[in-house]
Amino acid sequence: MINVLLMKAGVIGSGTMGSGIAQLMAMAGEEVLIYDNNPQACKRAQAKLEKIMQRLVEKERLSAEEAQAALSRIVFVDNLMAFADCKLVIEAVVEDLKVKCDLFERLEDICSSDCLLATNTSSLSVTSIAAACDRPQRVLGMHFFNPAPLMKLVEVVPALQTDRLWLGRVKEWLTKWGKTPVEAKDTPGFIVNRIARPFYGEALRILEEGLADEATIDWAMTELGGFRMGPFTLMDYIGNDVNYTVTETVFKAFYYDPRYKPAFTQKRLAEAGWLGRKTGRGYYDYEPDASKPQPRKDPDLGEKIFRRIVLMLINEAYDALFWKIASAEDIELAMTRGVNYPKGLLLWGKEWGYDYCVEAMDELYERYREDRYRCSPLLRELAQQG
Ligand code: NAI
Repeated sequence: MINVLLMKAGVIGSGTMGSGIAQLMAMAGEEVLIYDNNPQACKRAQAKLEKIMQRLVEKERLSAEEAQAALSRIVFVDNLMAFADCKLVIEAVVEDLKVKCDLFERLEDICSSDCLLATNTSSLSVTSIAAACDRPQRVLGMHFFNPAPLMKLVEVVPALQTDRLWLGRVKEWLTKWGKTPVEAKDTPGFIVNRIARPFYGEALRILEEGLADEATIDWAMTELGGFRMGPFTLMDYIGNDVNYTVTETVFKAFYYDPRYKPAFTQKRLAEAGWLGRKTGRGYYDYEPDASKPQPRKDPDLGEKIFRRIVLMLINEAYDALFWKIASAEDIELAMTRGVNYPKGLLLWGKEWGYDYCVEAMDELYERYREDRYRCSPLLRELAQQG
């Protein structure tokens, strides 16, 4: 059967995200061009893609022919002019507004008017990138998660100027590639990186207050909470530099809302170069002879930790709904598919009871007298409705 949706797509940036996005599109049958202004990066990406395909064949996820065909659909180009007949271009270069704006300005002259220009930015305003174009109607955010070929969720973020006609087409493409698109308002952190902040932030507060150590907090969240990884294990996996930067960016972008205030502990770790797994040391020591710290498996303490972190996540999810960042359905999808939470946070809140959530938030607020613990107006309204 001929797939009428097949197209030629362009990817700019051949780093972690660019090469992953190119891989997933090629595996879905699209023809993909990749451009990177660093020829060494292209070479590295090409070698990495070959290795990944080889591994997929070894694991019998793909036949040798399918792997070869997917690889042959990815073409590395040394000039952006090659993108002239692309129907979609996804930019995945460094997270720098000026670099991205310059690129979009150039793309506008190269790509035909029916080509969609997308950015994979995770923290910049899509609207400000679109503003670099004379025809910003065809610019939007397509926020993939790492590793892009595996992670199902993609946040689709229309800029203020985006023509909504594009949204349907983008969601169709993503669905065809096996992805789950959700639509997010162009606000800091979109859905996932906003709602997930307390998973790290509240865990760090509990650590800094001395209520429990990293291993105990991780144990509470995995064993009692059902999360796949505890916050400290996950931060070490993501990289403390990357995670700190996201937190700081969201904090600044929210005009220093104390709810998103970064933790000194994480800043110090980043400064020390204790970035996590990639440097052999983070919250935990990953050297081969290092001993693993044991959690204090006290059920009452564990319950307290898990309840406090999940409560803050629930509050954040209801607040995102209150501010119309996304629909309830998309918020649930984002957190269960994007970051593999064991349950949708809105459902979790409903199950715990709105009264309980409001009381528990107010208790934290009373204790600390910090705006960080303000209860979402939506949770309060729902509790009042009974
Ligand atoms: P990376 O550093 O691995 O790759 C960036 C690539 O862009 C490099 O190969 C670099 O040579 C190239 N580049 C820089 N300036 C360029 C230019 N003017 N023209 C062409 N190529 C250029 O970065 P990564 O992690 O892939 O991130 C890319 C984008 O994706 C960023 O906007 C980031 O915020 C976003 N993102 C990253 C995620 C992650 O987990 N790494 C997750 C979701 C989004």
